[in-house]
Amino acid sequence: MTETTQPKKMPLTSMDIAEEKREQLKHCLGFAFPEIMAEDKIDFDELKRVLGEWVDPGKERFGLNWPGKAECMKIIQQPSVATLKPVREESVNFDEAEHLFIEGDNLEVLKLLQKAYFGKIKMIYIDPPYNTGNEFIYPDKYAETLETYLAYTGQIDDDGRKFSTNSDSVGRYHSNWLNMMYPRLYLSRNLLCDNGCIFVSIDDVELAHLRSICDEIFGAEHFSGLVSRSTGTRMGSGSATLSSELDYILIYAKTDEVEFSGLPMNDDDLSIYDQEDERGKYLTRSLRRTGGENRREDRPSMFYPVIAPDGTEVFPIAPAGYESRWVCGKSTYQKLLADGMIEWKKMRKDNAERWQVYQKHYVGSAMKQPSNLWNDEEGNKKATRDLNALFGGLKVFDHPKPVGLMQRMITLATEARTNDIVLDFFAGSGTTGQAVWVQNQLDQGNRQFVVVQLPEKLDDEIKAHQVASQLCEEIGVPKNVAELAKERLRRALSSMQEKPYFAAGSGKVGFKVFKLDRSNFKIWDGRAAADEDLKRQIEMHIDHLSPESTAETVLYELLLKAGFPLTTEVKALEMVEKRVFSIEDGALLICLEKEITPELIDALAEANPLQVICLDEGFKSNDQLKANAVQTFKARAQAEESEIVFKTV
Ligand SMILES: C[S@@+](CC[C@H](N)C(=O)[O-])C[C@H]1O[C@@H](n2cnc3c(N)ncnc32)[C@H](O)[C@@H]1O
Repeated sequence: MTETTQPKKMPLTSMDIAEEKREQLKHCLGFAFPEIMAEDKIDFDELKRVLGEWVDPGKERFGLNWPGKAECMKIIQQPSVATLKPVREESVNFDEAEHLFIEGDNLEVLKLLQKAYFGKIKMIYIDPPYNTGNEFIYPDKYAETLETYLAYTGQIDDDGRKFSTNSDSVGRYHSNWLNMMYPRLYLSRNLLCDNGCIFVSIDDVELAHLRSICDEIFGAEHFSGLVSRSTGTRMGSGSATLSSELDYILIYAKTDEVEFSGLPMNDDDLSIYDQEDERGKYLTRSLRRTGGENRREDRPSMFYPVIAPDGTEVFPIAPAGYESRWVCGKSTYQKLLADGMIEWKKMRKDNAERWQVYQKHYVGSAMKQPSNLWNDEEGNKKATRDLNALFGGLKVFDHPKPVGLMQRMITLATEARTNDIVLDFFAGSGTTGQAVWVQNQLDQGNRQFVVVQLPEKLDDEIKAHQVASQLCEEIGVPKNVAELAKERLRRALSSMQEKPYFAAGSGKVGFKVFKLDRSNFKIWDGRAAADEDLKRQIEMHIDHLSPESTAETVLYELLLKAGFPLTTEVKALEMVEKRVFSIEDGALLICLEKEITPELIDALAEANPLQVICLDEGFKSNDQLKANAVQTFKARAQAEESEIVFKTV
C-alpha cells in the first residue's frame, strides 16, 4: 500500500519546538540562501561564510551562564507526551465558560499549549517563586518531566525523589532557580501575539539574573520597563542591611508593535482640571512652548502671529524677552481655534495689560502615562485581607498579589472588547483570574484567562499551611494549592454574580478545569532502551487507547494536539447513527467510533470539512477501508476545489 492511499498519522506529542523552528528557519534561509542547504539541513558554517562572518568556536560570548543552562535547551526541545484532561465536576459552567484553570506543572502545560495557543496570548503575568530560600523550586528532569510530575502528585510510586525547598545552603541555589525559569520563559514567549507582552514580579534576590535571561529570551531591545512597587510591608528578605518594602515588575514586549494603554486618572489626577464649560471639565496650558527647545530657531515654522480678541497680533515671546515658539504650526492652530480649543486671558504685568493665549485640554477620556513607580496601589496587606474575606476571615494563602495591581497591568496591556487572553502560569491563589473578571465587569470587557497552578502540597507539619489544609479537609478536596485557587475563583464568582454585568453575561463566565495527566493514547516511547521495556511497549500498543480514557478526555486531547484552543465550541452530531464531534462549525470533524463504515466515511466527506480525525482502531486493521476513505475525501475535496486533511490516531 503506498503512502498516498493511507491517512496521515496524527502526532500525539506536543509541538516539537526545535523541529518547528528548524522548519521555519529552513523556509526563510533556504529561500534566500539556497547554498547553505545541505541534504535538507542547514549548514551553519556555510551560512557564516555567506554572511562574511567567522565565529571562533571557543570565543567568549556576552550573557549569563550557569551550570545546567545547556540542559535547559534539551528540556525545552523534549516534546511532551502528556495531555490536559477536562474535569467537569470541578469546573463552573463547563460548557460555556471561556476561562481556563489548568492544574499541573507549568513546564509540561506550556509545552502542551504551544500548538493551540501559539501567538494567541495578549498578556502574560507571572509571579514565580522569588527564590527567598523558603519556596519549593520545581525539579525538572530532562526526558522525564511528566514522570517527575506524576511522582510529585503521588500518582506513581515515589522512588525516593526529594521535593524540597531551594535553600541557599543548596550549592546550586541560583542555578536551580534559573534552570526552572529559563525553559518556562522561553516557551511562554512563543505564546505571545506580536503585540503581546509579559510582566514578571520579582524581588532583589533574582532581579539581576531574571533581567539577564529575559534580555536573552525576549531581546534586550524589547525591555519595556521595570516597575518598583511598594508592597506596603517591610520584609526581611532583600539585602542584609536594608529591609525591603519594594518588589519589582519586569516588563518585556514581544515585538516593537506593542502599545501600552494609558491608565485612567484618579481623583488626584483629576483635580488639576479646574475649569468647566458646557463641554465639561478642562485645564489650560500655555500655547507658547515652555521647557527645552522653545526658541524660534528650534522650530521656525512655529513662530507666527495669532490674533487676540481685540484684533492685535500676538507673537510667542518668552518672559525673558527672547523670541520663542508656539507648540504647534499655523494650520493646527487654525483647527484648534475653529474647535473652540483656544482660550485668551488678559494678564497684568508691569502695570500693563497683555493678552496671553492658552490651549484647552478637556478631561474627556484622558489617560495618564504610567510611571515606573507604583506606590499608589493597595499593598499586600489589603490583598491578604480581601482574600481572607472570601474564606470567612481565614488566612489560607501567604503573599497573594492585590487584585487592583493585576487590574492595573491588565488595563495597560489588553483591550476590553477584543477577547484578549491573559495567561498566568504561576497562578498561586488565582488572583489573576479574579482580576480579569473584576476588570471585565468594570469595563464590560470580554477578556479571557488561562491560569496554571501546580497542586503544591499543603503540609500539616508546616504552621503556615495548617489553616489551608484544614479548609481543604472541610470542603472535601485534596490538600494542595491548586484546590485553594479553584475554591477562591468559585467564591469570587459567586460574590460578583449579583452585579448587573455578570447577571446579563453570565453564560460565558465560569471556568473550565483541566488537569495535566498521561495521554489517553499509549504513546510509543522512543526513549525506552532495555529489551524488557520494548517488550512491554509492544504489548501495550496492541490496545492503543488507555482503559481510563473517555470520549471527552480523548476529544480534548485531539483538539489540543490538532491546534484548537480548549475553549473551542464543540457540537456533538449524529451521522448514520454514529457520533461525530463538529469543531468550528464543521471545519474539523472528530469521530471516536470503534467501528467505522463506508457509509460513515461518505457522510463525513459530504459535510465537506477541512480536517477529519478518526481512531485507527475504528478501521479494524482493514487497510482497504482506509484506502477507500482517503480516496473518498480526495474526490470530495477535488469536487469542491478544496482540501480535506484526513488523519488517524
Ligand atoms: C508566588 S506564588 C503566586 C501567587 C499569586 N500571584 C497570587 O496572587 O496568589 C507562586 C506559585 O507558583 C506555584 N508554582 C511553583 N512551581 C510551579 C510549577 N512548576 N508549575 C505551576 N505552578 C508552580 C507555586 O505553587 C506558588 O503557588
